[in-house]
Amino acid sequence: MDAPPYHVPMSPNAEDFRAALDRAHTHSLAWLDSLDSRTVGPRATADELLVEFSGPLQEGNRAPATVVDELATLAEPGLMSMASGRFFGWVIGGTLPAAMAADWLVSAWDQNAALRAATPATAAIEQAAGDWLLDLLGLPPTADVGFTTGATSSNFVGLASARQFVLDAAGWNLAQDGLTGAPKVTVFVGADRHASIDLALKTLGLGSPVPVAADDQGRIIPAELAKAMDAAAGPAIVCLQVGNLHSGSFDPISEATEIAHARGAWVHVDGAFGLWAAVSPSLRHHLAGLETCDSWATDAHKTLNVPYDCGVAIVSRPDVVRSVFGVHTSYLLNDDTGPGDPFEKVPEFSRRARGVPVWAALRSLGRSGVIALVDGLVANAQKFSRALTAMPGAEVINDVVFTQVCVSFGSDERTRDVIAHLLSEGVTWMSGSRWAGRDILRISVSNWTTDDGDIDVSLAAIARAMESADSR
Ligand SMILES: Cc1ncc(COP(=O)(O)O)c(C=O)c1O
Repeated sequence: MDAPPYHVPMSPNAEDFRAALDRAHTHSLAWLDSLDSRTVGPRATADELLVEFSGPLQEGNRAPATVVDELATLAEPGLMSMASGRFFGWVIGGTLPAAMAADWLVSAWDQNAALRAATPATAAIEQAAGDWLLDLLGLPPTADVGFTTGATSSNFVGLASARQFVLDAAGWNLAQDGLTGAPKVTVFVGADRHASIDLALKTLGLGSPVPVAADDQGRIIPAELAKAMDAAAGPAIVCLQVGNLHSGSFDPISEATEIAHARGAWVHVDGAFGLWAAVSPSLRHHLAGLETCDSWATDAHKTLNVPYDCGVAIVSRPDVVRSVFGVHTSYLLNDDTGPGDPFEKVPEFSRRARGVPVWAALRSLGRSGVIALVDGLVANAQKFSRALTAMPGAEVINDVVFTQVCVSFGSDERTRDVIAHLLSEGVTWMSGSRWAGRDILRISVSNWTTDDGDIDVSLAAIARAMESADSR
């Protein structure tokens, strides 16, 4: 694209900010307006787009507003409509208006939100958001809340805290002596856990976990956990899951935690999207005993619908998480006596104030709005489930207890065919996967804007995809 020459040296020019932000505002609204009608999938590949974005960097500078125009125009064909009400891939979620606008403010404020004394506004906002979350999720009010990049790093925070705690209890000083020569820590996980648990354990030097048998919905079997723990000795961590990425199921937290605690283990809960069931009076029974666990990981960018990236790491023992991630050096302005600095609860030193959009999302929804958001996602998943169960040639293979619906269309081959036809048409977007020994279409209802119309057109698209697959 030819851009007008711009020879003025870069300077903090208010007009440049205004013009660039105006263009970003216009492009953002155009993008959001297009979500209702556009094809959900991208129309260009990364390789095709790279040709447009790359090439030698020009010598002189270019007007910021022109750069924004160029960026938005070139990117548009390669954008996946993840914020669309007809996007049901992986577990993604859209963005609530207040959260999106708050995220813009975070960029404008440009705070390095590590220290309470240096960035008091964002520290206070994040602390308030953390307190609201603990209250909504029914977790101990004394727990520490850190805002991370996502559930993967929140799992890392919880498991790093667990490692420190159980080794300390075994008389081993991890911070001083490292892992070499330390007592072996055994980590017990459900056989159907999320891969980010293994990733965290690998990076923490804890090796492969002991998989414990799960039932047909992917829930850990408590009696098997007890058996596995009794067969091992030494420090132990138990990692539970609320919200199985295929079935949406919840591990039996109360029973499993009793077994784990009776054997001196730390209990971490991966609740990337499923922890949010705890806010809903009609779903909370699935998570009985949640408050007795030791650490919890979740995302705000999934079920709460704040922009990427934003995860939440909650640890019941502030002293433990702060001793793992806190740093005290002469040039910092540490908060030694108060609620702790935001950077002491997450793996980053310099950090974006990721909790600010969470505060805005919660403030705009209110308690009843958060409950309605979660209940609404579940109601939509159940609508899908009922309609697909009634559709000849389709079979829902999980118990739909939360936001996930797994569908088989008969043989693995037919299922793959139906998915290929569905995605090529582009009216709706759902990902394929393999679960319970079968190829499946995985419908994940995570977007706050999804309504009956989105569900109806998506169901019609599935019916057409079945017809196309059968008429090959
Ligand atoms: C159960 C579970 N745990 C962890 C993750 C990882 O979350 P993130 O991609 O936000 O790091 C996911 C992602 O979907 C998940 O479903």
